[in-house]
Amino acid sequence: MKYTLKFRLWHWLNALVVLIMLGTVFLRETFLNKKENAQLLMTKLSDMGNDITIEDATILAKALRENMWQWHIIFGYALAFLVVYRIILIFIDNSQRESFGSLTLHKKAVRVLYCLFYGAIVFMSVSGLAIHFHEVLSITKELVENIKEMHESIYVAILVFVPLHIAGVVIADATEENGLISTMINGKKV
Ligand code: HEM
Ligand code: HEM
Repeated sequence: MKYTLKFRLWHWLNALVVLIMLGTVFLRETFLNKKENAQLLMTKLSDMGNDITIEDATILAKALRENMWQWHIIFGYALAFLVVYRIILIFIDNSQRESFGSLTLHKKAVRVLYCLFYGAIVFMSVSGLAIHFHEVLSITKELVENIKEMHESIYVAILVFVPLHIAGVVIADATEENGLISTMINGKKV
């Protein structure tokens, strides 16, 4: 057995949750974009004979995206739990991995990429929770703004990792490592 059931469960739950997190950001930046919807609402309401200010239109646009953005927080908690789950796995999981030294240069690079990804989700969870609970934690406004900026920067790393990883494993499975993807499904060595 290469990957234990508990590790495979972690992998697929984590994949699902990260994709949902990216989905909420996608919706926030496109269909539920605050600026665009505020303009749209202002124009449409004006056509109907109701002139409203851009400030009021922005309040409406924010209200429209609010329920969707709740999912960023709910699945944010899920991600934080998965990070803890992954840390526990370091100690109790016995999935079989080759030692770092025995790997080819390419596979070493892949391992390093996974480590960077782990660093990124730890940071996203800690910073996300800090932003969400800034009042309870009495974090100053200035600091929250800085944390938000960093949260948005590290987001880009995750955005790059996901398609790179999926393309990487599909290419590897189709060429030199037939069955790599099924290994992450059934756990058996190729
Ligand atoms: C949906 C398509 C996906 C497939 C087919 C897939 C498949 C795989 C496979 C086969 C491996 C083992 C690769 C190896 O031995 O080098 C792996 C590892 C990994 N995957 Fe995915 N994956 C997918 C999506 C994701 C997503 C969306 C994420 C996170 C956002 C993710 C995170 C990881 C991580 C962190 C590892 C390294 C695990 C470790 O060894 O510590 N995967 N994946
Ligand atoms: C893969 C993980 C995550 C990604 C990719 C991600 C991405 C983002 C992005 C891009 C933003 C900026 C949105 C904008 O202003 O346009 C954001 C904001 C935010 N995120 Fe995350 N995030 C992740 C994890 C988390 C977690 C674990 C939490 C904790 C519950 C969280 C809570 C927040 C909060 C509270 C904001 C501020 C929203 C606002 O300014 O109104 N995020 N996130």
